[in-house]
Amino acid sequence: MGLRVEAVDLSYGASRCLRGVSLEADPGRITCVLGRNGVGKSSLMRSIVGLERVGRGRVLWEGRDVTAMPPSERARAGIGYVPQGREIFPFLTVQENLETALAAAPRGARVPEEVFALFPILKQFLRRRGGDLSGGQQQQLAIARALTAQPRLLILDEPTEGIQPSIIKDIARVIRLLARERGLAVVLVEQYFEFARDLADRIAVMVRGEVALGGPVDSLEDEAVRRLLTV
Ligand SMILES: Nc1ncnc2c1ncn2[C@@H]1O[C@H](COP(=O)(O)OP(=O)(O)OP(=O)(O)O)[C@@H](O)[C@H]1O
Ligand SMILES: [Mg+2]
Repeated sequence: MGLRVEAVDLSYGASRCLRGVSLEADPGRITCVLGRNGVGKSSLMRSIVGLERVGRGRVLWEGRDVTAMPPSERARAGIGYVPQGREIFPFLTVQENLETALAAAPRGARVPEEVFALFPILKQFLRRRGGDLSGGQQQQLAIARALTAQPRLLILDEPTEGIQPSIIKDIARVIRLLARERGLAVVLVEQYFEFARDLADRIAVMVRGEVALGGPVDSLEDEAVRRLLTV
């Protein structure tokens, strides 16, 4: 089960962005997508959550074909998304930011206490405006917001970008816990191989819109991966 992306093509107008990309992510496991700037990592994530309409190929989640489903329906089907650059609401409080994730939930639904157990700082800052948090805290808020909808698949697009090392460690710990203990399927986009290798069960390295190298992390040679990230 889990997530199966099958031979997806995506174009922006005449420019082809993804070519026959396949990817898998299983419950309890972490799949890392690596690649240099502009190879199509975010476009692939946007295709999985429904923000891009793919030309060819399919996206299957828990055995269902979600390729034609709008993003809101995919969210209800358990797909959570933390976009690159965080995209929290700067003028809403932390509490209000989290509650935006409850829009599709049954009436009376609340932010799960577990979210605050994972990110205690957010409990302390509930009434602060999102824009007044540090970059790392905003990233934690973005992850917490995705978790508020209680997804079974969590997609994180470069959650460590521009963030200080102490918070990167915290985020890594949370990602590991979500997969290992809560059984979420995780897809993590990263630029840094060391961070990815520490966390990943599977790795997919993209080069110019294609998966150039992929598989279980132990099956890949570090050097082969590094070469694709530096050329
Ligand atoms: N909405 C869009 N319209 C046209 N072209 C786009 C659009 N979004 C992305 N692109 C182009 O598609 C290619 C892949 O972009 P994408 O953002 O998916 O790459 P990325 O691997 O996530 O890069 P980064 O590491 O910088 O985040 C780039 O050449 C980019 O300029
Ligand atoms: Mg990107």
